[in-house]
Order: sequence, then C-alpha cells, then structure tokens
Amino acid sequence: MPDHQHHFKYNERERLKLQDPRSILKSIGLKKGMTFIDLGSNDGFFTLPAAKIVGEKGKIIALDIDQEALSKLTQKLKKEKINNTITILGPAEKSLPFKNIADIIFLGTVLHDFKDPAKVLKNSRKMLKDNGLIYDFDWRKIKSKLGPPFEIRLSQEEVKKLAQEAELKIKSTDIINDLFYEVKLKK
Ligand SMILES: C[S@@+](CC[C@H](N)C(=O)[O-])C[C@H]1O[C@@H](n2cnc3c(N)ncnc32)[C@H](O)[C@@H]1O
Repeated sequence: MPDHQHHFKYNERERLKLQDPRSILKSIGLKKGMTFIDLGSNDGFFTLPAAKIVGEKGKIIALDIDQEALSKLTQKLKKEKINNTITILGPAEKSLPFKNIADIIFLGTVLHDFKDPAKVLKNSRKMLKDNGLIYDFDWRKIKSKLGPPFEIRLSQEEVKKLAQEAELKIKSTDIINDLFYEVKLKK
C-alpha cells in the first residue's frame, strides 16, 4: 500500500479529527433499512458505522482488492456482532450481479485509485436504485502534505467528465474543507 494510504491507516485518531464517518453518513441520508455499497472499503472506516446506521434490516456490501484489509473488516464485524455486511474481494471495475439495489454507493477517497474510474461509475449506475445516490468524496487537486500525490488526484471537473461518460447526473458538488471535495451523483 502506498505511503499516503498508510498515513490514515495508522493514524485513525488523527483521521477522526478530520472526518467523522457517522456524521458524514448521516448527512448524506443514510438511514435504517437502507442498502449501502462501499467500493474500496479498505478495513471499514466507513463500512462499520454504516452497518450500525442501517441496522439489522439494512444491507452493506463492502468491496476491495486488498484481502488483508477485508480480513480486518471481517474481524471487526465479528467482534461487534454485525451480520448485515458482506465483503467482496475483487476490483470495482468488475461488474457485480446486482441491479437496482443500492440506496447509496459510497466512494471514499478512492475514485482516483481506480484504474478505470469511468467503468466503476458505470457499474455503480447499474447497482443504484432509480432514486439512489452515488457519493464521491476525494482529495482536492491541490498540493498538500497529507493525501495522495498531486498527479494522481482527480479534480471536480474530471469527476464531472467521468460521470458524463457513465451517464450519471451531477446532483451537487462542493468543497468540504481545505483538503476534500464532494460530488453527489444520481441517475
Ligand atoms: C485510500 S483507500 C480508501 C479506503 C476507504 N474508502 C476509506 O475511506 O477509508 C483506497 C482503497 O481502495 C482499494 N482499491 C484500490 N483500487 C481498487 C480497485 N480497482 N477495486 C477495488 N478496490 C480498490 C485499496 O485497496 C484501498 O483499500
């Protein structure tokens, strides 16, 4: 895993100061009973709080290419006795056998990491309910000490173009703070 990813991994407390996953998830409308797909979930910084919010009647799908990260997530889920989450090992570019199931598809600081982000958005569109939300938040395309190298970051404009390619509409886009922006997409 590249250094910039390690930074947050080993400084979860530091990250929590910048990002409160529970309040972010609530602010995008995640509620009891919903289906939530976390693409590039890693070990579950957002997956776990999402699983608690959607509760027993909800469903979570967490996908990542990192086996070790998913094992950690599975351990955490077991420890917390959470049974509403399935983990899938594999690339987000590969189409999954789900259609029109997701209330929210979550892309947390990950779109820039995908080899083919347009394909991931196309797959997301297929899995999204007609009134569902794709929530992408990512590092602003600026030079900052924290975060991935400038060259691999995606600007909001680039995300808009990728969304067009995937036949998705922009619901809104905002700067969150010094480091992050968000883009909300819909069908
Ligand atoms: C920067 S981390 C973000 C993790 C998580 N969303 C969060 O906010 O804590 C990026 C994650 O995406 C995963 N990843 C990278 N390329 C991927 C791909 N093509 N398909 C699925 N996951 C991928 C990595 O293994 C890593 O866990």
